[in-house]
Amino acid sequence: MARNEPHTDRAHLIAAAKRAMKNAYAPYSKFCVGAAVLTSTGEVFTGCNVENASYGMTNCAERTAIFSAIASDGPKLEIRAVAVVNDHGVASSPCGACRQVIYEFGPEAIIFFPGAKGWRQAHITELLPEGFRLK
Ligand code: THU
Repeated sequence: MARNEPHTDRAHLIAAAKRAMKNAYAPYSKFCVGAAVLTSTGEVFTGCNVENASYGMTNCAERTAIFSAIASDGPKLEIRAVAVVNDHGVASSPCGACRQVIYEFGPEAIIFFPGAKGWRQAHITELLPEGFRLK
């Protein structure tokens, strides 16, 4: 993928997130979510939500994608951007837990998500001011 081309990145990431959404396991909420993560090396990793009968064990699409990226590339991975989509055509930004996980690996990440009036784009620190860090 070409670097420094935000619009190309955005279209590519959203398309990847839509493809991943098809694999969602969401029998309880029936709310399928897909996410795609762009790393600083130009790689794209995707994820979907994976629910559980014990509801609290559910993993959001964003965290599935990020954990898959770390499992593949290791702990030094840097997130440049994240795209999130859902199958209800409604506004949905990453949940609070996912914001913190995005921040850990992407303190400068840009997030693309469906807003109330179309696509929105926000810096992770707009979504999560004062993100937690141990160092
Ligand atoms: N969900 C995500 O995967 N990502 C989000 O950003 C918000 C919520 C999932 C969790 C659950 O499976 C379903 O959407 C309904 O909350």
